[in-house]
Amino acid sequence: VLVVMLFAGVLGSMISETVPGFFGARSSYVDPAHLTGTPFATPGLHRNADGTLDAYIVARAFAFQPSTLRVPAGQRVTLHLLSVDVIHGLMLEQGNVNVELIPGQVANLPRTFTRPGTYTTECNEYCGSGHQTMAFHLVVE
Ligand code: CUA
Repeated sequence: VLVVMLFAGVLGSMISETVPGFFGARSSYVDPAHLTGTPFATPGLHRNADGTLDAYIVARAFAFQPSTLRVPAGQRVTLHLLSVDVIHGLMLEQGNVNVELIPGQVANLPRTFTRPGTYTTECNEYCGSGHQTMAFHLVVE
């Protein structure tokens, strides 16, 4: 697993250096071993002083944190997704989200979800023995 993580990290940095914007125009790096002091230490929806919304989602084998994210319909939310161990993936049909989560590489996705409802999805990158149990629920309300 360590070798895979190292390889993924090296490959990720190579790609992001050689193909700017490959991980999204605004990707950034967070050390998975040091989440304290970052918003990922308290995953979930954060409402900022100016009223804007940021959602921090941590992926680790074999769960998303939070496993249920509630967002208001029609309001822009910037999703920030981070894997802290191996490669995971998340696809949300609503909002056109389909990201591969490389350990340490934060995917930043501003989205507006307009249709209220509960949308359940699963990790879509094989990540180990519990992969098929790694569910995520988006509640648009
Ligand atoms: Cu996480 Cu598959």
